[in-house]
Amino acid sequence: MQPVLFNLGAEESLADSVAGGLEAERGTLELRSFPDGETYLRFDGDCADRPVILLQSLDRPNDKVLPLLLAAATLRDLGASRVGLIAPYLAYMRQDIRFRPGEGVTARYFGRLLSDHFDWLVTVDPHLHRIGSLDEIYRIPTAVARAAPALAGWIGEQVTDPVLIGPDRESEQWVAEVATRSGMPHLVLEKKRSGDRDVRVSAPDLEHHRGQVPVLVDDIISTGHTLIETIKHVVAMGMPPPVCVAVHAVFAEGAAEALRAAGATRVVTSNTIPHPTNRVDVAPALVAAAASLWQELE
Ligand code: R5P
Repeated sequence: MQPVLFNLGAEESLADSVAGGLEAERGTLELRSFPDGETYLRFDGDCADRPVILLQSLDRPNDKVLPLLLAAATLRDLGASRVGLIAPYLAYMRQDIRFRPGEGVTARYFGRLLSDHFDWLVTVDPHLHRIGSLDEIYRIPTAVARAAPALAGWIGEQVTDPVLIGPDRESEQWVAEVATRSGMPHLVLEKKRSGDRDVRVSAPDLEHHRGQVPVLVDDIISTGHTLIETIKHVVAMGMPPPVCVAVHAVFAEGAAEALRAAGATRVVTSNTIPHPTNRVDVAPALVAAAASLWQELE
């Protein structure tokens, strides 16, 4: 049976590419709020006995998750044979342990919630740090698409003589993968975060890289403070103003402008979350990850 893909909020161009790559029909639905704020949903066409894909990026998740779960429940009610989720950005991955007594480990709870409603999940570069793999928190089959090849391609085409810099050890997995794929040199700084917007970084010796263009690479830009501190640091070490590259354009209000004001010459992200800085297309990686997961499920 040909799958049907419903787009709940990704860029239409991403939805078209993913549906095309997976040879899925594009379905349409009506999704709106009643005057009291509750969700109204209606799927066009017949989903009975068909595999269904919901495409929804989960940045700013709290407003999106309830409609998403109601959509999955509706599709099951309509007889869909399987309901899978492609979430180019997967939320609630950073609160992965109890840092202070009494806190919720929301990465785990969110994993349980989605696992209760979907048959499979595909995402791009989830923020895996203290949790080693999605299997630790998701009970459903999952697949991870990697943005590194596309990021490496963009940097290779756009930046002459780059040195890749990760702001902290967590970023090493992304920076190292981009470096491996491109043959570009890379190094990783040390970060200390003492609050949501209070970040300090310290550096290894940048002496050997003075003539190169620093390209700061991270998985997420949220407030921008991690990269702003990193920009200040590399510039103070005598390097030219950097280019900032990230997978997920979470961007709290004003973050992109703050990065440019701090000295970033360019700020570039992938299209996992729609944003004016999107330059790198993850559709081929999503299609490959979903196709290989489906093969396993056959
Ligand atoms: C942290 O663990 C992530 O890899 C990013 O460095 C972080 O989420 C960026 O956040 P912000 O832009 O708020 O500093």
